Formats: sequence, C-alpha cells, structure tokens
Amino acid sequence: MSSLAVLGCMWGDEAKAKIVDYLGDKADFVVRFQGGSNAGHTIHNQGQKYVFHSVPSGILYKQSKCVIGPGVVIDPFSLKAEIDALKKLGIAFENRLFIDERAPLVLPLHQILDSGTEDKLGKQKIGTTRRGIGPAYSDLASRVAIRFGDLAYPEWLEDRLLNLYKFHNEKLSAAKLKSLLKELAELYADLKDFSAKTDELLYEAYLSGAFILFEGAQGTLLDISFGTYPYVTSSNTIAGGISIGTGLPPRMLDRTLGVYKAYSTRVGEGPFPTELKNEIGDRIRTQGNEFGSTTGRPRRVGYFDAVAAAYTARLNGLDAIAVSLLDVLSGISELKICTGYWLGNKRLESFPSHPLELSKVEPEYLDCVPWDADISGCKSLSRLPKAARDYLDVIQDLVDRPIELVSVGKDRNQTIKIKSKK
Ligand code: IMO
Ligand code: MG
Repeated sequence: MSSLAVLGCMWGDEAKAKIVDYLGDKADFVVRFQGGSNAGHTIHNQGQKYVFHSVPSGILYKQSKCVIGPGVVIDPFSLKAEIDALKKLGIAFENRLFIDERAPLVLPLHQILDSGTEDKLGKQKIGTTRRGIGPAYSDLASRVAIRFGDLAYPEWLEDRLLNLYKFHNEKLSAAKLKSLLKELAELYADLKDFSAKTDELLYEAYLSGAFILFEGAQGTLLDISFGTYPYVTSSNTIAGGISIGTGLPPRMLDRTLGVYKAYSTRVGEGPFPTELKNEIGDRIRTQGNEFGSTTGRPRRVGYFDAVAAAYTARLNGLDAIAVSLLDVLSGISELKICTGYWLGNKRLESFPSHPLELSKVEPEYLDCVPWDADISGCKSLSRLPKAARDYLDVIQDLVDRPIELVSVGKDRNQTIKIKSKK
C-alpha cells in the first residue's frame, strides 16, 4: 500500500503527464484531484500523441483504474468527447474510469461567464483558458453548483438549473431549459456507468495494498491560495489539495514528486521574474514547442527560477524532483539560473506573496556553462555532457531536493532515472 503524488511545481505545463506515464506501469490507480479541462496533459508513446484534459493519463495502461475525484470540475460535454476520441484509439473504459458523484459540473454557462469576465476586465484579465473553471469553482463555493450525481435526478436537476440561472441573473427560457435537460440526460446515459463514490474506492484500494498515483494539474504557482494570486487557477494545486480533492485522509499520501522544467514557462498574465523577452526566450520557445496544448497560446519563457522552485518544494513537502525538457536547452548559448531576488537594495529571503513585489523583483543569476550536444538519446546521467550534469547539480542544490528523474525527450523511454547522491 502506497501512494505517490506527481505535482507540477511552477506555473503548469511541466510535463507532469510524461512523468505520470513513466511511473504509470506500476500504478493500480491514477487519480485527478483538482482542476478540470483547463489541463492539457500530453503523452507521446510509440509515435502516437495523446492529449488529456480531464481523463487521467493512466488510462493508457491497461492495468490502471482511473479516478476523477470530487475536487475536479467536470465539463460533461468535453469529457464525453475526450472519452469517445480515446475509445477510437482502442482504449477501453469499462470498469476502468470512476467519476465521483460529488464532482461539480462545468456547464456552457460557466464558459460564457469565464469569457465574459475576461473580456470585461480588459488589461486586468487573468488570461484564463476560458474553460469555465473559475465560475464553476465559484458556484461550488456559493452552493449553487450542479454536481455529477445530480444528473441522476431529472426533477432535482431542473430545480438546480433554474436556481443556478437565477443566481447569475441569466435568463433561462423554457425551450432552453428543455434542450439543456435533454442534452444532459443524453450525456448522463453515456457517463453514468462511471459514477462512483471514489473516496470509498480509494480508501479500500489503499488499505488493500494498491499503488495510487495522483496526477496533479496546473502547478503550485497557480494554486488559488499559495500561487501568484490573482493570476492563478481556482483550485488548490498543492499536495494539500489531494486530501480535499479525493477524500483520502492526508496520512495516506506517502510520497510527493515535484516536476520542474529545466527552464520556466507561464501562460496567461501575471508576474514572471525570470521571463526572457529576447531571442534566447524565442529560441527556447521554438525548441521546446512551447505553445499551449489546451489553447494553443505561445507560452512565456524564462530561466529556471530556484527561488520560486524552493518555495514550491517546501509547500509540497517534496521528497524528490523530476526535471523535464532538459534536451530543449541544448544549443542555448546563454544559460542562467535565478538564485535570488533583489527588491531595491534588499535581497529577499523568501518568495514574495504580493504581486506588486513579485513584479518588481530583479533576479540574481548564476551563469551556467551551455552545451551543444543533442542529449535526447542519453540513457544515463553519465552520458550527459558535463555542463548539463553541472546544471542539474545546481538545481538540486538550490531546490535542496534530490533529482530522481530527468526527461530528455517526449517519449516514455527518453527518461533518465537517477540514484540520487543525497
Ligand atoms: P496543465 O495541467 C498551464 C493558467 C491559465 C491562466 C490561469 C487561470 O496543463 O499544467 P483557468 O482557466 O485555470 O482559470 O486559468 O491558469 N492555467 C494553466 N497554465 N498549464 C495548465 O494546466 C493550466 N491551467 C490553467 O493560463 O493563466
Ligand atoms: Mg497546460
């Protein structure tokens, strides 16, 4: 009996799914505990590319059961489409996917509200994925959400829909209500077999010796409480969110593995101290294909930020880290790692909590020796150029956590497992 969380530790897109996939061959359960279809988890295996938004990426392994916990907001329309697309690729779902009855739904109304708010805010916008995530979580907190299990009770559902639209001062004509109820009934007919009390399932599984893998979505710096608020997502992305998002007692989380890119990226608005608005950033963006898998937006790119990384390692109580996309840095002529923040003539001791401070800090950099060689075929640490190994050592020392995995390419087998020195 054991459990392991794989968590994005920056602003999302750290290649969490690649790491989940690498570890997934031993997983009995792969569990999403927060977020929704704002996630874009990409896996490349044997020439096939898979992009997951709501389905846990463990579905690729036949022996894994997949859980969408009550902390996840579910867009039933996109979930159904995602399942159908995966079925077409030959992936079986029967008795393998479990969706918690308590998971709140993202409805078309939430997407309209999300986009409407973004448009209205203009310069103040968050730069959301416009998937309706914020409004869906807000409705949960406001106690007007419709939950997956509500779909089993048409009369109750009708009442809840009327209540929801009233809450938002939105018109819901009789015809629109009727068609929405019909659409939801059709979706539920397809999805109801997945409905479960996933807290019971996971509790029993843990006690009976299963290996449970938690697949984080987004990243710690997007956490609603500890991230770079207000430029965050609307869920708790940190390890502490796992218990809240699954109902599994916190003591049943045995291990946390944090995923960091070898550099930094961010999509959407908000401060980004190490951002590179120059040709080096452009080169990393091109080499790393840094364009959103959910929205297609070009990602903002910057140097590795060890101040932020140490902060997120602590918040998640990381046991170890995985460094992804190291291969992307091959041939980047100027490599640096941020070792500190200066605010005026003061060196900050910790990661600022206020966006005004974070937007004003000047990074202090350590120059690193670049390397040119293509490392995408390296199967062990000793095969990496010395400069790349030194680069990893700097990260390990500054984040103060052992590096356990290094990813040097998209494919499952382009992963180096390290026996750490610490
Ligand atoms: P994965 O799981 C990167 C960002 C959005 C925006 C902010 C709020 O693929 O790492 P939201 O739609 O959640 O209300 O948007 O959060 N964001 C992500 N950035 N990767 C993600 O997921 C993200 N999910 C949300 O760009 O800045
Ligand atoms: Mg993403």
